[in-house]
Amino acid sequence: MILRDYHLTLRDVSDQQPEYLETVFSLANGHFGVRANDPISGNPITGTLINGFYETAPITYGEGGVGYAQKHQTILNLPDLRHLNVATNTGHRFSESTRTAVDLDLTTGTLDEQYELKTHQGETIQMAVKSVIGQNQTSFWGASYSFVAGNYAGGLLVSKAIAVPAQAEAIPSADPRKTRMAGLPVCETAFINQRLQRYHVKTRTTKQAVTAFLGMLTPNAKLLQQPLDLGDRQAHTLEYEAYVGEVGEQNTIDPAAQFMISSLSALIADSRDFWQGVWHRSEVTVGGNDELNLAIHYNIFQLNQAAGRDGRTNIAAKGLSGSGYEGHYFWDTEMYMLPYFTYTNQPMARQLLYYRYQTLPKARERAREMGVTKGALFAWRTINGEEASAYFPAGTAQYHIDADIAYAVGKYYEITRDLDFILQCGFEMVLETARFWENFGAWHQIGASSRFEFHTVTGPDEYTALVNNNYYTNRLAKHNFELIGYLANEIRQRYPNKLADFGIGPADLEKFQKLADHVYLPYSADLQINEQDDSFLSKPRWPADKSTPENFPLLLHYHPLTIYRYQVAKQADTLLADYLFPEDLSVDQLKREYDYYEGVTTHDSSLSRSIFSILAARMGDPEKAYKYFMDTARMDLVNLQKNTADGLHLANLGGSWLALVAGFSGFYVQDEVVHFANHLPKEISRLTYRMKIAASVLEIDLSADKTFVSVISGPIPTYGVSVNGDLISLAKSSSYEE
Ligand code: BGC
Repeated sequence: MILRDYHLTLRDVSDQQPEYLETVFSLANGHFGVRANDPISGNPITGTLINGFYETAPITYGEGGVGYAQKHQTILNLPDLRHLNVATNTGHRFSESTRTAVDLDLTTGTLDEQYELKTHQGETIQMAVKSVIGQNQTSFWGASYSFVAGNYAGGLLVSKAIAVPAQAEAIPSADPRKTRMAGLPVCETAFINQRLQRYHVKTRTTKQAVTAFLGMLTPNAKLLQQPLDLGDRQAHTLEYEAYVGEVGEQNTIDPAAQFMISSLSALIADSRDFWQGVWHRSEVTVGGNDELNLAIHYNIFQLNQAAGRDGRTNIAAKGLSGSGYEGHYFWDTEMYMLPYFTYTNQPMARQLLYYRYQTLPKARERAREMGVTKGALFAWRTINGEEASAYFPAGTAQYHIDADIAYAVGKYYEITRDLDFILQCGFEMVLETARFWENFGAWHQIGASSRFEFHTVTGPDEYTALVNNNYYTNRLAKHNFELIGYLANEIRQRYPNKLADFGIGPADLEKFQKLADHVYLPYSADLQINEQDDSFLSKPRWPADKSTPENFPLLLHYHPLTIYRYQVAKQADTLLADYLFPEDLSVDQLKREYDYYEGVTTHDSSLSRSIFSILAARMGDPEKAYKYFMDTARMDLVNLQKNTADGLHLANLGGSWLALVAGFSGFYVQDEVVHFANHLPKEISRLTYRMKIAASVLEIDLSADKTFVSVISGPIPTYGVSVNGDLISLAKSSSYEE
């Protein structure tokens, strides 16, 4: 495997603000993340985030109400592992530092940085930092710091310790996307010996605990105050490691002895091994554009860094790169990030779905709180499964999360045929969400016919709230009803009596089918497009005089009710349903819908542009597809949303993979046929990528006039493969050329 464009450097990013660089160059492994803080000046809000390690605080409402979410859940910002103090042996501290070069190697996961350090008195030295996070051994992080004389060439004292910051609470902000106040945890630090420090942190309300260790890897060196002499003008290197234990119950302090890794190079080998696996499974090459190639590699890298791998954690909206959105998991996972895992790394996809499954009991309780007598309602935003959305119109009202999760279960099953997962977890999730829709919706009799409707919901577009019959919600709920019938059939074929264990029989399945057939899908006969909801099209458009760039994102400038009065969308909504169900509408209708909704969409949400790119590709507008794709692929590298400092836009990173795969290569699966279509724009001379479907790894290779699909490992697929509308056979040649 020849890997090109796998190095991200300072030159590749548009912004040099410290907080921005901390996010972009953060390292993570699904368990914990280390922001790339300046090791000398640090960051007052610290730099380590542990997936699922959080604190709660009561949500204070001016006027509360029944069923309102009760508690904030906030990921904790823990001390910076990278920090160290450097001083001359005469006591002059190197307090100023300038980051002069950075290189993130996406094939090994190592981060190399160069700094120039300066004392108040003007003495300078150079410092190189190499750091890496364990990817198989996910408790470890390690770093080496090398010092070379500058205009100062004397003795140095280097000391490193986990320092508990005095002020670790987030600063309150009017931006709802930023993190909120969380109670400070209880921290204890102790030196086990001169080379090893223990840090134990306990939360006050969630009763979680983590034990971490900071240790010295350089033989005979001390953590606190190691003398070095730069007089020989050689580089002097000190190596350190940190161990971050699992999130556990309180009163469990792990013993220290076993926590030493052998060397930094062993940790780099561990990380390289993991990344080799990732690139082997999911390498994507975009020919003709190195910048884009690098961007997509970076996005895949960050997706893998962010995803919780243990089935108890998930992917936060900002991953482990920042504390924006409080470390919460949203529908972003199922609809934007999971597809990458579902099609390249099924065990990971299963773990992410399993996380949802273990929140099912809380989802059942939540449905009851919301006055729905049967079924389950998953939390809109959460860490522990409880609803943490303090603003229900753009939170709990997004009931569509239920159908999104069901959809993701269906997609996972469609290509894995993992009936065990369905029997153990998946069926129950799809059944409980279908039951929710059944009991949440209402029949509406119109003359002789009747239809099944869903009232007072918010669809994906958060600029339109509490409406009736949101097309996206209704379409996904319809699919949820259909899916239960499909999965029931799959189970029955293998285990004829098993369905009774789930408390359903033929009459229930008939009822779900009837509901699926009658879900109302709003359509405007005038415009000949699907209607976003019952009232959207009749509202006035967002006023032109409030449309200059400084008014965006609207959510930071207008009261929600002002926004809700208008026909304005934050993100793809009806079009998102069109992308998910390509066979629902003709290309002509898609074009009409696209033109219409594009005109009223602000893309204030980072979840929007990838979908516009996919659909533009599908409807034969490669220029537009490419334009949206560029914004998607490089969103955080160019700080497009201007808030990358708070963390990466993980859903968009997943969306950029989708834009290549579902957009430019037209991938979707329907009725056991895997479809591809060549929609490459002229700016991309070639696109190759891999995906795993059932037991076979396929390689897809597109260029302007050629489309190859080949089986590179595993059996010849038994499912159908269609390229540009023709069913092809991979059986004979194991590859297809258009
Ligand atoms: C979007 C939501 C998304 C959330 C977290 C919001 O701005 O409108 O769709 O789930 O961000 O990424």
